[in-house]
Amino acid sequence: MGSQINRRTFLDFLGKGTAGLVISSRMAERLLIVPVAEEIVGIAPSGKDTVVLAKGLKSKLLVSWGEAISSKDTFGFNNDYIAFLPGSNDEALLWVNHEYVDPLFVSNYRGLKERTLEMIITEQYNVGGTLIKIRKNKKGHWNMVADDPMNKRITGTTKIPFNWDEPIAGSDHAIGTLANCSGGVTPWGSILTCEENYDMFYGERNLKTGEVNTNESSLGWQEFLNYPPEHYGWVVEVEPNSGKAQKHVALGRFAHECATVAELEDGRVVVYMGDDKANQCLYKFVGSVPASLSEGTLYVANLGTGNWIPIDWETSEVLQKKFSNQTEVLIRLRQAARYLGGTPLDRPEDIEIDPVSGHILVALTNNTSVKNYFGSILQINEEDGKHDALTFRPDAFLTGGEETGFACPDNMAFDAIGNLWFTSDVSTTSMHRDPYKAFKNNALFLVMREGSQAGQVLQMASAPVGAEFTGPQFSDDWKTLFLSVQHPGEDSLQLSELTSHWPDGGVSIPRPGVITISGPLLDEIQGLV
Ligand code: FEO
Ligand code: CA
Ligand code: CA
Ligand code: CA
Repeated sequence: MGSQINRRTFLDFLGKGTAGLVISSRMAERLLIVPVAEEIVGIAPSGKDTVVLAKGLKSKLLVSWGEAISSKDTFGFNNDYIAFLPGSNDEALLWVNHEYVDPLFVSNYRGLKERTLEMIITEQYNVGGTLIKIRKNKKGHWNMVADDPMNKRITGTTKIPFNWDEPIAGSDHAIGTLANCSGGVTPWGSILTCEENYDMFYGERNLKTGEVNTNESSLGWQEFLNYPPEHYGWVVEVEPNSGKAQKHVALGRFAHECATVAELEDGRVVVYMGDDKANQCLYKFVGSVPASLSEGTLYVANLGTGNWIPIDWETSEVLQKKFSNQTEVLIRLRQAARYLGGTPLDRPEDIEIDPVSGHILVALTNNTSVKNYFGSILQINEEDGKHDALTFRPDAFLTGGEETGFACPDNMAFDAIGNLWFTSDVSTTSMHRDPYKAFKNNALFLVMREGSQAGQVLQMASAPVGAEFTGPQFSDDWKTLFLSVQHPGEDSLQLSELTSHWPDGGVSIPRPGVITISGPLLDEIQGLV
């Protein structure tokens, strides 16, 4: 253990923030006593088909695809975002997103041949989300409580109403949620699950012809089911007790990576959201009444002027010329945002609010169209630290590349003392190829906040072959990091040519799953010992 942070250092540390500090009293207390860890030793990039961890960390499989969560439901495929909802008596609820399916494993085919409706229905069941009760044992390990009455699924077949006064593509509800990538939690304890690459399921409407364009529909569900593409690409709120869901039209329709919520002093909420596609934009919704995700204004970021531009048909002549009403604007938000001057970005993915400074961090994964292969993390400093500010200052926070040791940042999480953890998302087709060779498998990284290693990027874990770590989320006692292992063996061409056998080993097929990471190093990094 290194030296204690004294009061003076602590005040200097706070001085790095803005006037709008959001540091919690719990974190402030901890920062006054927290010892700075000795030098943290990370790992080198790995190509192994296992979860490789830094010394002092251990991992355990919590739940994986196909496992029964109750007498009628099983855990879905390609787990992504994880929300931890603390309970009492060492119990908690864990929400997990299921982004998409790999037909090779879920329905035993590659390519779009010889399919049946039954196969598509199985695929629909395996996307959406899972809610499970988890319990911590005397050793501090979290386990699923199978068959708990709280355990439930939301899937690609669940009927979900739109929270909006007008119909969306002729209906007041959608069938199912899909492409559930990252998400967020509201101050009132519900979960936001975000529909990202929705066009891979039912395609997307061509604005000129009105026909459904299926170029991006790699799963081709539209060949069996006639659901309008406009019913997908929304932020979906799930109430954990009842399992009731709703799609929030006011938050706009695009490839939603995440929905990161800040609560203002008067109870109104601000939701930060990125559109994960090359040359798409960063948005925020600012509520006009407390605890509402439907009453308020949606804004798009212009990084050149540092302005949040309102996207409001009623007051915008530009939008009135191009669209017939606000509903159409929200459905075609990408086009509306560009007409208004939204800045195209290098794939905005996860967004986190720095718990010490209050600044907004945005992972920009990469953008091969402008030869940005390794991505970066952008920092947004809101004016006066206020989340409802209309102006901000953008800053570069961290740049990917061989010098910093990471490529393609995606999901992020802050730990107990504000160290930043993030995962990488080099696509399976690019991994181990130029210019990504040196990075090997996808990984989990740590950026220490204080001490001699402050600002360095340390690799703490390596994912199995073909996989990506997603959804990092700490338990309420900070001693466990929940992490999704998504799409292991995704580059397998057929079942007889598997590239990964994680987690079961041998000749088994790979199965996405959620792991827990804990151990003395995790405690030391956060001064928990
Ligand atoms: Fe589903 Fe943008 O990652
Ligand atoms: Ca992601
Ligand atoms: Ca996150
Ligand atoms: Ca990603």
